[in-house]
Amino acid sequence: MLVIGLVGGWIVAGRMLAPLTRITRAVRKAENGSLSHRIELEGRDDEFRELADAFDAMLAQLEARVSEQQRFAANASHELRTPLAVTQTLLDVARRSPNPDDGELLERLRVVNTRAIDLTEALLVLSRADQRSFTREPVDVSLLVEEATETLLPLAERHGVAIDISGDITPAAGSPALLFQLTTNLLHNAIVHNLPEDGTVWVTTGVEHEWARLTVENTGERLTAQSVSTLTEAFQRGTERVHSDHAGVGLGLAIVKSITRAHDGILTLTPRDGGGLRVTVQLPVSAPA
Ligand SMILES: Nc1ncnc2c1ncn2[C@@H]1O[C@H](COP(=O)(O)OP(=O)(O)OP(=O)(O)O)[C@@H](O)[C@H]1O
Ligand SMILES: [Mg+2]
Repeated sequence: MLVIGLVGGWIVAGRMLAPLTRITRAVRKAENGSLSHRIELEGRDDEFRELADAFDAMLAQLEARVSEQQRFAANASHELRTPLAVTQTLLDVARRSPNPDDGELLERLRVVNTRAIDLTEALLVLSRADQRSFTREPVDVSLLVEEATETLLPLAERHGVAIDISGDITPAAGSPALLFQLTTNLLHNAIVHNLPEDGTVWVTTGVEHEWARLTVENTGERLTAQSVSTLTEAFQRGTERVHSDHAGVGLGLAIVKSITRAHDGILTLTPRDGGGLRVTVQLPVSAPA
């Protein structure tokens, strides 16, 4: 009896503990940096299975996050290298030519340098939002919209774009500077990525189902749901302007996304039926001050 009991117990314990061994092995692998391994435990829906599935889901998230960071670092270095390489070429050409036109050279260097500064500043905003290193204050989003519109009105006039604002007081909590940046980026995009002429931008603010909501909508080229889904990734931009002098750096929406995330909000991008884009930012509503 004793022998049968011991052997039986040993077999049952072995079967029970086998999943744990697999989970431990997977944890060790992840610890050594291999994030692509999955446990994929099959069998009954018990506690072990639940633990293994949760661990697999965590690994998938981590893997996606790490590869996003790696792409980001590669793209950022590439983008930062471009203005430096252009500067180098301009200086080389100037040194070789016997009669350099200093005025033109200086102007071109200034343009390239401004671009490098813009890019670096955008990267700094992005990292500040990602670290959530800001204090939360009451903010009325509708006031931010008014302020941003005032700043960008000359740009809208130059692009022949009309801006239509509507909405009520929209109380949220967060960093006024970052939320202003978010509003400005969205409005800026809605103006510059609009129709060549007679474009319109609609900005609405308001409170809906416990969310402070900001919607920026604009006319423009027709977009597909698939192309829209990639726009918030850093350095993604529409092909049309990449080669022009005024091409953006492609960080505007990435900054919007990271500021929204830092404020526990939700960002939604949808193509408009008639062409153009609708962007909605929802932030947790706060009691009005
Ligand atoms: N409101 C919009 N309507 C249509 N397309 C848009 C809109 N906003 C963004 N896009 C598309 O998404 C791309 C990425 O936008 P994002 O703001 O991140 O970069 P950008 O505007 O090109 O450069 P910048 O960093 O200077 O803002 C744009 O290049 C454009 O193709
Ligand atoms: Mg932009």
